[in-house]
Amino acid sequence: MSEEKKTVFEPTRRQVLATTGAMAAGVALSQLGGFVSKAGATGGKTEKWPWPYKKLDPAKTAEICYNEWYRVFCGAAVINSVVGQLREKVGEPYTSFPADAFVFLEGGQLGWGTICGSPAGANIVASLIIGPRTAGDPDAHHIGNDVMQWYSEAALPTFTPKELNPKAKKAGVPHKLQTTVSNSPLCHLSVGKWMKAANKSLKSPERKDRCARVAASTAYKVVELLNAWHDGDYESSGFVSCAKENGITGQFNCMECHGDDVPEAPQG
Ligand code: HEC
Repeated sequence: MSEEKKTVFEPTRRQVLATTGAMAAGVALSQLGGFVSKAGATGGKTEKWPWPYKKLDPAKTAEICYNEWYRVFCGAAVINSVVGQLREKVGEPYTSFPADAFVFLEGGQLGWGTICGSPAGANIVASLIIGPRTAGDPDAHHIGNDVMQWYSEAALPTFTPKELNPKAKKAGVPHKLQTTVSNSPLCHLSVGKWMKAANKSLKSPERKDRCARVAASTAYKVVELLNAWHDGDYESSGFVSCAKENGITGQFNCMECHGDDVPEAPQG
């Protein structure tokens, strides 16, 4: 994207600085403050969560995800690429998990352009595997945060398929596609910026293959993070939530909509 867009996303740097301060002060990082209590009013006592994980090959996962996109779109493709392999390596409870149910994540949830299904799918998978954010183990949400942050900053797609999906091949999609930085995990912004840069419509085969590749890129990323976590090598990038810093849920891209006049949220 243009340089202008990069400066618009400047608050990321502020966020990084804020993070260092927060870490130094030993402040617990949390999205909206609270931890999940293990024994909830409904189901808490019978739920088995988190689920066992065995390391997966990120490149293989990405290839599976890329092709799954053509069946169930971004969110369910990311989930299926991980859950499908764990069905074979682990069995239950993955065997019973209805991954295709998450097809609704497509188009930022049924075409509403909210969160891109790829990070949504990755976060569902990470949360299944790492479990609730309890006081002793806050990693689940950190991986989720890292996925969203990475998604916002990466020139996507980072993944290029070894072999084009037959549908893409038939439609003449080139092997190399335009990449763009979304500065946001929102489908609307991510796909919109790409469509503008590539001058392709939503219906074009190139846009479809781009989204299949974005899903695959995200599946690759989350498996990389999960593998590191599995080996005890995972280190959170130290995300501090926008809610915490600005008193309103958001994505550190305030100026993209508000310009220089970012309103202050009521405090207290
Ligand atoms: C995608 C566009 C978009 C982004 C990005 C965005 N906002 Fe907003 N924000 C809005 C809109 C639209 C409203 C509603 C404005 C209204 O009702 O007049 C709003 C409302 C608000 C409000 C409520 C008070 C008010 O004056 O309307 C606050 C506070 C606010 N935004 C702060 C922020 C902050 C801080 C960020 C960055 C962390 C941010 N916004 C990012 C679009 C955005």
